[in-house]
Amino acid sequence: MAALCFNNEICHRCCYLRTIKMKGNPGWKAITFFLIVMFCFGMCWFLHMELYMQRSYPSVHEMCIPGDAASKAEILISNYSRDHPVFLQLSDYFWVKNKSIYPLPYGTNGSEELLMKFLALTNHYQVPEEIRRLPCRRCVIVGNGHLLKNSLLGETINKYDVVIRLNNAPVHKYEKDVGNKTTMRLFYPESADFDPELDNNPDTLLVLVPFKPLDIQWMKIILNNEKRVRKGFWKMPPIIWEGEAENIRILNPYYMAVTAIQILESENMTAIPTTGMLAMTFALHFCDMVHIAGFGYPALTNKKQPIHYYEKVTMKSMAETGHNITLEAQAIKRLLQQGIISNLTYF
Ligand SMILES: *[C@@H]1O[C@H](CO)[C@@H](O)[C@H](O)[C@H]1NC(C)=O
Ligand SMILES: *[C@@H]1O[C@H](CO)[C@@H](O)[C@H](O)[C@H]1NC(C)=O
Ligand SMILES: *[C@@H]1O[C@H](CO)[C@@H](O)[C@H](O)[C@H]1NC(C)=O
Ligand SMILES: *[C@@H]1O[C@H](CO)[C@@H](O)[C@H](O)[C@H]1NC(C)=O
Ligand SMILES: *[C@@H]1O[C@H](CO)[C@@H](O)[C@H](O)[C@H]1NC(C)=O
Ligand SMILES: *[C@@H]1O[C@H](CO)[C@@H](O)[C@H](O)[C@H]1NC(C)=O
Ligand SMILES: *[C@@H]1O[C@H](CO)[C@@H](O)[C@H](O)[C@H]1NC(C)=O
Repeated sequence: MAALCFNNEICHRCCYLRTIKMKGNPGWKAITFFLIVMFCFGMCWFLHMELYMQRSYPSVHEMCIPGDAASKAEILISNYSRDHPVFLQLSDYFWVKNKSIYPLPYGTNGSEELLMKFLALTNHYQVPEEIRRLPCRRCVIVGNGHLLKNSLLGETINKYDVVIRLNNAPVHKYEKDVGNKTTMRLFYPESADFDPELDNNPDTLLVLVPFKPLDIQWMKIILNNEKRVRKGFWKMPPIIWEGEAENIRILNPYYMAVTAIQILESENMTAIPTTGMLAMTFALHFCDMVHIAGFGYPALTNKKQPIHYYEKVTMKSMAETGHNITLEAQAIKRLLQQGIISNLTYF
């Protein structure tokens, strides 16, 4: 608080006032001095409280109510269920080929053989024990939006139990604004960080979101150190990638289907959800408290504004991605308005 006061303009003025030569007898001087000091303290306290209240709403300190996200989400999502495995697991493909009606990215129909081979390699399909045993999971999804720049949200973000990051969003050198804790990172080959060790913690779960069978193949090739495949990606993914097999998971495509059909209400699933939108659906099935930060694009007409906090790309790059940003913005607005999720970037 002292530091805050000394950085504060009003406090500076107080100190300045105190140094002004005061006229009158010593008794009056003392009383005036005392009153000024009291006033300054009051002012500082008031400012501090105001800043504190602004910053703490919504906040990780809000009471976490077990089952809160679920009870809100089941109103929005018909057939809402938490009984689906979070990550794909070998047993579903080894003994029984899990019957999925959709192919990737909405289901595993047609990718069963590949999955069986891949899942046999990683051998880890669970959520870490320290997260599983939490009575209430407070989650924050850190979007990659430019509004995180200079947000100073880093410390706040670090306080959540589960910090979900997306794609290749860096942490290194951006700690003040985005924090340095990463519980899970959702990505696909084209969005993979070339140096996963730099921007993750040693125990960060690296969660592959497969959009096509080739994405699973890419990961299998890397883990097995097989001959690299270059064709079929829309952007060259890393060829050398130092992720530990025990930290790698594949997100159940079930969440992708729920996102497209129920959250976006995308006709015939033509609007492919972004990783960010997918992360929200996933969090509604996994967490008890869901907060988001760094979501929101500049207006389509704003051609110069960067869209990410860490690079200069603009809205132009979103044009041919198969995502429907308008639809997603509406969906996020609905989730916020219905109080199912809260937005942390508000100042
Ligand atoms: C919910 O489940 C019912 C019965 O299994 C099914 O008919 C319906 O299509 C499902 N709704 C959605 C949106 O998946
Ligand atoms: C696989 O099938 C089991 C049993 O029918 C089901 O509980 C599970 O959700 C399925 N897994 C996936 C990834 O859909
Ligand atoms: C999987 O896809 C094939 C080919 O599109 C289709 O014939 C089959 O019915 C699908 N499986 C399920 C369980 O729907
Ligand atoms: C985050 O940074 C702080 C301060 O630099 C450090 O003490 C802490 O270990 C870091 N946390 C992680 C998960 O890297
Ligand atoms: C969705 O699928 C239906 C039936 O297959 C088709 O008639 C309709 O034109 C499709 N809509 C879009 C937007 O592709
Ligand atoms: C996004 O979805 C809306 C509503 O379905 C549709 O009207 C619009 O044309 C779509 N935009 C793009 C870029 O596909
Ligand atoms: C979250 O709040 C910030 C700041 O108020 C705002 O700029 C941003 O658009 C909001 N995000 C969403 C998805 O509403």
